[in-house]
Amino acid sequence: MNHSKQRPIGVFDSGVGGLTNVRALMERLPMENIVYFGDTARVPYGTKSRATIETFTAQIVDFLLEHDVKALVIACNTIAAVAGQKVRQTVGNMPVLDVITAGAEAALSTTHNNRIGVIATNTTVNSNAYARAIHRQNPDALVRSQAAALLVPLAEEGWLDHEVTRLTVREYMKPLLADGIDTLVLGCTHFPLLKPLIQQESAGVKLVDSAVTTADAVAKALAANDLLNADNPAPDYRFYVSDIPLRFRTIGERFLGRSMEQIEMVSLG
Ligand code: DGL
Repeated sequence: MNHSKQRPIGVFDSGVGGLTNVRALMERLPMENIVYFGDTARVPYGTKSRATIETFTAQIVDFLLEHDVKALVIACNTIAAVAGQKVRQTVGNMPVLDVITAGAEAALSTTHNNRIGVIATNTTVNSNAYARAIHRQNPDALVRSQAAALLVPLAEEGWLDHEVTRLTVREYMKPLLADGIDTLVLGCTHFPLLKPLIQQESAGVKLVDSAVTTADAVAKALAANDLLNADNPAPDYRFYVSDIPLRFRTIGERFLGRSMEQIEMVSLG
C-alpha cells in the first residue's frame, strides 16, 4: 500500500459552508480520505480584516499539517481571496487548490459574451480576487462583483426557497443583470445551496458553482502528483470544528447532503 496516497486531503473553511466542497469531493473522488476543519467559533470571516484572516488561516493550516494531509483545499472564498498566497508559501510543494482559481477558470470557459458577475462576501469583493484571477487569463473580460452578505445567514437559516431570500437575491442581482452578464460565479461557500432560487432570479444566466470545479481541480492535481488514491473503498471522513453551535449537525448535514458521523471540537490559537 502506498502511504502517500492514503494520506487525507485537508479541506478548510471559516465554518460549515465548506462542506459543500467536501460533498463535491466525495462525489468526484470517492476513494479519498478527507479531514475537514471549520472555524465555527470565529465565523464569519467575510466581514473581518485581512490581518485577522491571515492569523486564523495560519493556525488552521498548522492543524491540518499535523494530520499529515497530502493536499489542501481552501474551500472558503474569503480565505482564498486574502490568504491564498500565504498558504502556498507556507506549504511549499504540496498541492493547494482553492475555490477562486477554479471558479475563475470555470467562469471563463462558460461565458460567451465575456461579461461575468460574481456574488460573494464583502471581504472577497473588496479584495478584487475574482477579477484579478479572471483578468490574468483574459484581460478583456468584464467582471462585476456584488457583495451579497445577507445571503450567508439566509442560507444558514435554511430559507432556501423563502420569499425574503428571493427578494434579497433579486435586489443583489439588479446591477449585475443590468450589466448584461451571461455567467454568474457563486463566490461564497453558502451560495450553491441557493442555486435554484438564484437561477430563477437570473434567467438566461449560467451559474458557476466553484465547489464542483474545485473538486475537478483537486482530481487533476492529485493525478499530476501521483497522489490519487485508487485503493480505498471505505474512506475515512473526519470533521473538526472550533465550536459546535446549536443546530450545527442539522446545518452541516444540509450542506454535506449526508449524515456526519465523526465531529470533534478542537480549539486553535
Ligand atoms: N466561507 C465564507 C466564504 O466562502 C462565507 C462565510 C464567512 O463569511 O465566513 O466566503
